[in-house]
Amino acid sequence: MNRRPIFLLPLLFVSILLVLSNYYTSFHLKSQSVDDSFSPPQIEVHRTHPQTHGNYTQTSLSNTSQHHVNSTATNIDIAKYFNLTFPKKNNNADPFAPQKRTGTVWTSPTKHQDNNEKYHWWQYSDTCFAVDDICRAFQNQWFYNRKYHTNNINQQHQPSFELKYMPYAYSRGTWADTRIQMNVDSTSQFVPWEKLKELNVCQVSPVPYHVVLQSNYNDMIGEFYLRTMLDLYKLISSTHTSISQDETQYYVHIAYENKKMLDAHKLMLSGMHPLRPTGNNAVHPNSSIRWAKSAVDLMEPEHDGVCQCYSKLIFCGYNATYTRQSLHNTSDNSTQNKFDLWPSTFVDAASTEIKGVTSSCDPISPLLAQDPYKCQVYAKLKAYLLSNIESHYNNIEDSVAEYRRQILRERNLINESYNGDTREWAVVGLAQRSSRRVWLNLTQIMDVCNNNSQFRYQNDTQANVVCIEVNVENTTTPHEQFLLHRSLDALIGVHGAQMTQALFMRPTAHVLELLPWIPSIRKVHCSFVFRVPLCMSYKAYGRGSWTARTSIPTPIGIMFHNTDLNHYGYSLNRSSLLLCEGVSSSPELDKECLTSKENADKFAWDKRDFRVNHSVVMEFIKRFVLRTAHVCKDLIDEARREFVMYNVWCRNESDSSDGAPLELKHFYR
Ligand SMILES: *[C@@H]1O[C@H](CO)[C@@H](O)[C@H](O)[C@H]1NC(C)=O
Ligand SMILES: *[C@@H]1O[C@H](CO)[C@@H](O)[C@H](O)[C@H]1NC(C)=O
Ligand SMILES: *[C@@H]1O[C@H](CO)[C@@H](O)[C@H](O)[C@H]1NC(C)=O
Ligand SMILES: *[C@@H]1O[C@H](CO)[C@@H](O)[C@H](O)[C@H]1NC(C)=O
Ligand SMILES: *[C@@H]1O[C@H](CO)[C@@H](O)[C@H](O)[C@H]1NC(C)=O
Ligand SMILES: *[C@@H]1O[C@H](CO)[C@@H](O)[C@H](O)[C@H]1NC(C)=O
Ligand SMILES: *[C@@H]1O[C@H](CO)[C@@H](O)[C@H](O)[C@H]1NC(C)=O
Ligand SMILES: *[C@@H]1O[C@H](CO)[C@@H](O)[C@H](O)[C@H]1NC(C)=O
Ligand SMILES: *[C@@H]1O[C@H](CO)[C@@H](O)[C@H](O)[C@H]1NC(C)=O
Ligand SMILES: *[C@@H]1O[C@H](CO)[C@@H](O)[C@H](O)[C@H]1NC(C)=O
Ligand SMILES: *[C@@H]1O[C@H](CO)[C@@H](O)[C@H](O)[C@H]1NC(C)=O
Ligand SMILES: *[C@@H]1O[C@H](CO)[C@@H](O)[C@H](O)[C@H]1NC(C)=O
Repeated sequence: MNRRPIFLLPLLFVSILLVLSNYYTSFHLKSQSVDDSFSPPQIEVHRTHPQTHGNYTQTSLSNTSQHHVNSTATNIDIAKYFNLTFPKKNNNADPFAPQKRTGTVWTSPTKHQDNNEKYHWWQYSDTCFAVDDICRAFQNQWFYNRKYHTNNINQQHQPSFELKYMPYAYSRGTWADTRIQMNVDSTSQFVPWEKLKELNVCQVSPVPYHVVLQSNYNDMIGEFYLRTMLDLYKLISSTHTSISQDETQYYVHIAYENKKMLDAHKLMLSGMHPLRPTGNNAVHPNSSIRWAKSAVDLMEPEHDGVCQCYSKLIFCGYNATYTRQSLHNTSDNSTQNKFDLWPSTFVDAASTEIKGVTSSCDPISPLLAQDPYKCQVYAKLKAYLLSNIESHYNNIEDSVAEYRRQILRERNLINESYNGDTREWAVVGLAQRSSRRVWLNLTQIMDVCNNNSQFRYQNDTQANVVCIEVNVENTTTPHEQFLLHRSLDALIGVHGAQMTQALFMRPTAHVLELLPWIPSIRKVHCSFVFRVPLCMSYKAYGRGSWTARTSIPTPIGIMFHNTDLNHYGYSLNRSSLLLCEGVSSSPELDKECLTSKENADKFAWDKRDFRVNHSVVMEFIKRFVLRTAHVCKDLIDEARREFVMYNVWCRNESDSSDGAPLELKHFYR
């Protein structure tokens, strides 16, 4: 048994400690291993916004937009032609070697002012850092083409800076993507636009804003949504101006070499854009949406032939520090500031509020249970994304109906002559994963579902149900991923990131989260040492109790909390697990087998594959998906002891007439 000392403290505090210890263990994210020697000096830097102050010597790229070139000249010519020198990239450096943060912490001057001035959203964050009029030549070589007269720190808007990839802070043992780094010296890497224009080898992006998003867990789509998307939304919705609606190209900084941008990143970020991009391509979704890219595409794109300029480049999710540095020009003894951008844990939006939302919520805090209706931020975020995504389509209902017809046609359930809206069908998705937590008997269950002609609505008419496999790793475009989820009446799957896309399902659709079997018995034992209680908590042998909790939403469930979706949970039991099956019926021996050296890794909740009795799926469909009168009391009866109803829409019995509006309810266990 694993004993974990908590603290030497009076008993009075033990219960509080338990809450906290639960809080921390359920916070399954490793803390950032920031160098302890780093202590930020308390000096605030005021960096004046260039559009209101400051002198430029050269034309801004925003005034030269849409400059395209046909040149095939390689960009190395630019560096040679203008005698630019670039720091050598050290490819042999250990990307996991800790790097010491030095210098003064930079904080956004505008974030801390409250004068209703119209700033851009990123100016409300201490972790967003913007530069203007910058170009990338061949091989990730960057240079400015505009600068200030002055070297005054208050006006230094074209700073020398270095973007550090700092993977040691993530430390999940995967090799860092060293392509994502930047190093710009504003004095030695500088060519005025006028000169560049003469050479005619650089093109300027017509998109005014380019935003690189970093957050410690961007590679995990659920975390990306819960953290980066929420912070971004908080910032954008707090902006005093409509400027956030200007066209933006997003890039996602994913720290690991072996992790890729997913369609879901693109889909989610497309929802941050309220407007349909202008131009005559704005009709078809896949040609009109400016999908997010990987930060690699910004720094080391595959086709690296053209010199590319940007009028504004914003880095969000980085803590900046700066140090004084001698100018490159040796005949000038003066110094300038050099900024270092270090990946921060999240995009800081702490002090910004979402309009119309009085309270935010912590997805991991047990305090959520105290007032489950208070937490509205994720509901707001979902509504915002969905309304934007819908606006990208000319007629979303038509697109979805066609997608559903396609599903039914492929299964020979309808033929070409069918032209209805398919609403007489219930389409149920079974969420498969390609590795880790594979649903072993999904195909068998799908067969049972699709061969069952016994499905009935409450009024006893026969119901048409079709079960399909949903695998977010199999879709080919973000657009397809959206239509697929929007086509589902229900989605059933194990706790995991693949359930995140349920966000895109239509209002009142059903989500069933299968909760992993975690044989956890958390016990606390206190003994007295010199009259002071020493309390130990017995660590559960199945790690991951937060994935199985039924008294508050799981970290996946928090995304659906207070939204227009119906979200249910079902606790899987021992029989969901093949490991050690039949070894012993004794729980003690079973535990011994499961936690043995050879099995421990396979037993980890996040790796273990599972199976489900088909009756779980069938009962869920019958009891909830096909329900027509949504009386709360009946739902509670139907849930019995098997299902938890985290977030459901139902009516009181007294006003169960069809017209009465559904109300949002939470029935926890
Ligand atoms: C801008 O330049 C003018 C004249 O060159 C100077 O008087 C003024 O102080 C400068 N403004 C700033 C903010 O540096
Ligand atoms: C850019 O053009 C606008 C008008 O199109 C003008 O008001 C502004 O001063 C110009 N900015 C620069 C830096 O040239
Ligand atoms: C670039 O090349 C294409 C095809 O060769 C041509 O149609 C286009 O007019 C050229 N654009 C410019 C700005 O020269
Ligand atoms: C680059 O350096 C060479 C040799 O020092 C010099 O002749 C040339 O004028 C420089 N080019 C520019 C654009 O300063
Ligand atoms: C949109 O994407 C689909 C499938 O990816 C493709 O078949 C279609 O041609 C695309 N449409 C446009 C206008 O690009
Ligand atoms: C270097 O600095 C001196 C003094 O400020 C200046 O006169 C000279 O033009 C600078 N040289 C370059 C290449 O920027
Ligand atoms: C730069 O510093 C050196 C040594 O400190 C000094 O000899 C030189 O005069 C200084 N140059 C200028 C332009 O101040
Ligand atoms: C980095 O930024 C995050 C988010 O604002 C903040 O919580 C954290 O304290 C910062 N870290 C350092 C070392 O400044
Ligand atoms: C299509 O289905 C309808 C209804 O099931 C049937 O009446 C019709 O004959 C079918 N048409 C074809 C071409 O199979
Ligand atoms: C029974 O309920 C279903 C689902 O609401 C509906 O489509 C169907 O028309 C109803 N049938 C009768 C006979 O009322
Ligand atoms: C998804 O891809 C996997 C592997 O490529 C394949 O085995 C599976 O059948 C696919 N599932 C669907 C629903 O297409
Ligand atoms: C998996 O599904 C199949 C088909 O329903 C069923 O025969 C099998 O018993 C299921 N496994 C379990 C453990 O329920």
